[in-house]
Amino acid sequence: MARVKIDALRKSYGSAQVIHDIDLDVRDKEFVALVGPSGCGKSTTLRMLAGLEDITGGTISIDDQVINDLDPADRGIAMVFQSYALYPHMSVAKNMSFALRVAGKPKAEIDARVKEAARILHLEEYLDRRPADLSGGQRQRVAMGRAIVRRPDVFLFDEPLSNLDAKLRTQMRTEIKRIHQEVGATTVYVTHDQVEAMTLADRIVIMRGGHIEQAGAPDEVYNHPESEFVASFIGSPPMNLTPAEVADGGLVLEDGTKLPVNLARFEGLSAGDKVTFGLRPDDIVLSGHGMDVNEPWNSKGTVNLSEPLGGETLVFFPFAGSEWIAKMLKPRALKVGEAIDLQFDLSRCHLFDRASGKRINNTK
Ligand SMILES: Nc1ncnc2c1ncn2[C@@H]1O[C@H](COP(=O)(O)OP(=O)(O)OP(=O)(O)O)[C@@H](O)[C@H]1O
Ligand SMILES: [Mg+2]
Repeated sequence: MARVKIDALRKSYGSAQVIHDIDLDVRDKEFVALVGPSGCGKSTTLRMLAGLEDITGGTISIDDQVINDLDPADRGIAMVFQSYALYPHMSVAKNMSFALRVAGKPKAEIDARVKEAARILHLEEYLDRRPADLSGGQRQRVAMGRAIVRRPDVFLFDEPLSNLDAKLRTQMRTEIKRIHQEVGATTVYVTHDQVEAMTLADRIVIMRGGHIEQAGAPDEVYNHPESEFVASFIGSPPMNLTPAEVADGGLVLEDGTKLPVNLARFEGLSAGDKVTFGLRPDDIVLSGHGMDVNEPWNSKGTVNLSEPLGGETLVFFPFAGSEWIAKMLKPRALKVGEAIDLQFDLSRCHLFDRASGKRINNTK
C-alpha cells in the first residue's frame, strides 16, 4: 500500500514563492501525471516528494505517515530522472544492482531482483554490456531497472523520455504503461508533453504558476476543461478559441459573425457578457468528410494549409480574425486557397468567462 497525500504544500526560494499551497491525493497504485508549462513547479513538487528539496510548508504523507523529515532513502520512493547518469565502467547488471550492493543485500537476493527487473524491461540479453554499447532507449530502461530493483512503493519520474527521439519515446511510453501494469506501484510522472500525460495517466494534474489548475481523468480534463488555460493546454492540435459576446439568440464574435449557440444550456449568462468561445478541431469537420454533427452550423472557408496525417487531415483556415483548425476524416487531397464547406458542431462548444478564464458550466 502506498497512498501519497500532499496537503497545503508550499515552497519558497528566498522571497519567491514557487509552489502555492497545493493539495493532491494519489491513490495506491494510481498513475498520476503532472503537466504544465516550463517553470510551473513540476520538478520542485516531485523533488519535495522524493526528499531532495526541503519543504517550506504543508505536509507530505505516505499511508498516513507524515514523511516531511524522513531521509530520502527511508521514504520507499525511487526517482527516475531525465538525465540518467549510468556508471560507464559498470555492466548493466552492476548498474542496476548498485543501490542493493551498497545497502549490503545478500547476493542471491540481488541476483534474483536484477533478473526479475531485466525480464520486465526486456534487458536480459544486455546484462553484461556497458552503457556505452546500448541504445538510448535501452539506457533509459537500465535507469528504470535501477529504480525497479529497489522495489519502491512509489515511483517518481521527471521527464524520463525527453532525451529520446520521437519514435523511441512512443515505444518507451508503451513500455512504461506496461511496466506500471505489471509492477503496480503508485506513480507520479512529470512531463510537459500532454500527449504522454493523456496516454499514460489514470489522472492528470495540470499545474500553472505553482498552483494546481485542474486534476482529473484524461477524458474529464479533455471534455470538461475547468479553465481556458487547461482547454488550450490539453489536446493536440489545441482547441480553437476566440473572444465572443452574449447576444439574443447566440454569440457574436469580434468580426461580427453570429453563432446560434443554444445559450440556455449554459449557466448564468446574460446579454453583453464577454466570454471566450472554444471548439476543438475534432468538432469542426469538412462537409461530407466527417461524422454526424449534432448542432451543425455551416460556414464557408478557404484552405490556408493542410497537414495530412494518414487517417485524417488537419485543415487550417481563417476564421473570426485568427487561424482555426478543422479535421477532415476520410481525407482527400486539398489545395491551398481551395474553398471548403465546414460544419461546426455547436453542441460541443466550450465557453469561458473572459475575465477569470473559468469555465461556464453547461447543464447537459
Ligand atoms: N534553486 C532554485 N532557486 C530559485 N528558484 C528556483 C530554484 N529551483 C527552481 N526554481 C524556480 O522554481 C520554479 C519552478 O521550477 P521547476 O523546476 O519546478 O519547474 P518545472 O515545472 O519543472 O519546469 P520545466 O518544465 O522547465 O522542467 C521556476 O520558476 C524556477 O525558476
Ligand atoms: Mg522540470
